[in-house]
Amino acid sequence: MKKLGVNIDHIATVRNARGEHHPDPYYAALQVVKMGADSVTIHLREDRRHINDLDAKKICKSKKVLVNLEISMNDQIVKNALKIKPDYICFVPENRKEVTTEGGLNLIKNKKKIKNIIEKFKKNKIRTSLFINPSIRDIRMSKELNADCIEIHTGKISNLIKSKKRYNVELDRIKKCSKLAKKLNLEVHAGHGLDYKTTKILCKIKEIKEFNIGHFIIGESIFFGLSSVIKNFKKIIKN
Ligand code: PXP
Repeated sequence: MKKLGVNIDHIATVRNARGEHHPDPYYAALQVVKMGADSVTIHLREDRRHINDLDAKKICKSKKVLVNLEISMNDQIVKNALKIKPDYICFVPENRKEVTTEGGLNLIKNKKKIKNIIEKFKKNKIRTSLFINPSIRDIRMSKELNADCIEIHTGKISNLIKSKKRYNVELDRIKKCSKLAKKLNLEVHAGHGLDYKTTKILCKIKEIKEFNIGHFIIGESIFFGLSSVIKNFKKIIKN
């Protein structure tokens, strides 16, 4: 059965726009799970643009939801994450000027560092995932680095589909990577830029076990409500 992780970062973006307390990401985390999400994703960015340490601690401490914490390899962030103790950790690249996570990790450049950090989280029984581009080389490297899961960056295919361009080559790449990852015993996740249409297309890849979706869910909820949007996604990924 495929799982849905709801990224609630943009609940914090709306809260932060006023610098006050509403809407509360902690309340959102509890609600999205009641509405059918299997887990919540939060990204503790170095610039604390949306979720902050207090939000992350409160959400993880509640033990009422499974939390997937996204972080960069920054030493201080890694230290904080080990204290926050999420259920799952997903390592993502982070670039100061980016609007959102642009592309996957550079595993070759950061090989040693990533391996050491993965080991620390595994010792703490925290599931580890690497956010990577759909590349065979990166899948093999993720296995070498001893990650539990890989999350395939779906930004490129999402943009192609949304702009009505040919996406078969990219879809094929994602399929091949998913098959190899499964064969190597890596759990396969997918995320970034997903909406109903892109999720429907990627859902056909049976090796993908988890979708992590944020911006579209929160945006669409303005018109149709969080509960109804989550239900629609659950229906799509159910098969
Ligand atoms: N997965 C990862 C690893 C991400 O970094 C993000 C964006 O923060 C997402 C999924 C969700 O992307 P989106 O908000 O475009 O759905």
